[in-house]
Amino acid sequence: MKILAIETSCDETSVAIIEGSTNSLNSGVRVLSNVIFSQIPYHRLYGGVVPEVASRNHLLKINSVLKEAILRAGFNSQNIKDFLNSIDAIAVTVGPGLVGSLLVGVGFAKALAYATGKPLIPVNHIEGHIYANFISEFEDKKFKIPSFPFLGLIISGGHTILILVEDHFRYQILGQTLDDAVGEAFDKVGKMLGLSYPAGPEIEKLAFEGNPAAFAFPRPLIKENNFNFSFSGLKTAVLYTLKNQKSDLEKRQVICDLAASFQQAVIDVLVSKTQKAAQKYKIFNIVVSGGVAANKTLRKAFASAFSKQKAELFFPENILCTDNAAMIGAAAFYSHSFGEKKIPFSEIEASPNLYLK
Ligand code: KG4
Ligand code: ZN
Repeated sequence: MKILAIETSCDETSVAIIEGSTNSLNSGVRVLSNVIFSQIPYHRLYGGVVPEVASRNHLLKINSVLKEAILRAGFNSQNIKDFLNSIDAIAVTVGPGLVGSLLVGVGFAKALAYATGKPLIPVNHIEGHIYANFISEFEDKKFKIPSFPFLGLIISGGHTILILVEDHFRYQILGQTLDDAVGEAFDKVGKMLGLSYPAGPEIEKLAFEGNPAAFAFPRPLIKENNFNFSFSGLKTAVLYTLKNQKSDLEKRQVICDLAASFQQAVIDVLVSKTQKAAQKYKIFNIVVSGGVAANKTLRKAFASAFSKQKAELFFPENILCTDNAAMIGAAAFYSHSFGEKKIPFSEIEASPNLYLK
């Protein structure tokens, strides 16, 4: 089954073509092309995503991103019709996300589906992040999809959620952030440190040269008997520390120590909550996804925390951690294969506040 997938929920305009076999669901999904046009340079000027700028750029770029995805999948401009005939469905992110951004992708996908007569599969962006772990992008022979049940930790710029996934599209939410998402906290702390948007990768780099124990930042909710998260207090703690450090801030080492100490506080909370959930539910298949999952120090911390148990840890390839259409195609493939209720075309719409069912 071949799916053309579209993702425009935030500031990445992405189109992918993926393929999966309904006879061999455990092999995961293969990526034929995954074109991501990142709008970061436009938003960086403003220190964060500007919704109006995002939707305008989706509109400007989506046609060329689609064309590039078709070309990279091996079709040229002479046989675009053959390509359209060869796909089985079109998938699109319907939410959650920025309403103007979602509207561009959903409108575009509907027009394509209408013109080609292909079915349209609506995809929840958060489920898309989870299914990034079902992509064997590099045809890795050792590749294996996570087996159920597993714990899913979604850590992105917009979300921080811990879920227990019993089966495809069957899950319970164990906990989530009560305020900022992890990626958002990285970006806001980065802004305080004078870094440009998005600051996550830059904080990670600086942290390699810093001492994670230099500043004793709080580990919010770490001792609480639940699986919720909170990062706004940690962000404020960094702000107050910065205020008291004014004279030293020119020193690169201080910035590196602040970055490392902040990052360590975040990692400690994420690891500890996931470990607690693993112990409580006796589930040691851990599936991490979302932009922050690209962080190498975090990956190492999970590996070391779970090294004593017979745990299986899953992280997507770096390029599949941040927003991309391949993960949307993967989620669509499994939702199609597992007989998710078909939604009539007329009911598919941009849903900015869509959550997990
Ligand atoms: O998944 P994503 O593209 O966005 C949402 O769906 O929300 O994730 C983007 C977020 C940004 O906040 C970015 O700073 C963070 O992921 N991020 C990182 C790293 N790479 C991206 N955070 C920490 N370390 C990284 N290496
Ligand atoms: Zn995302």
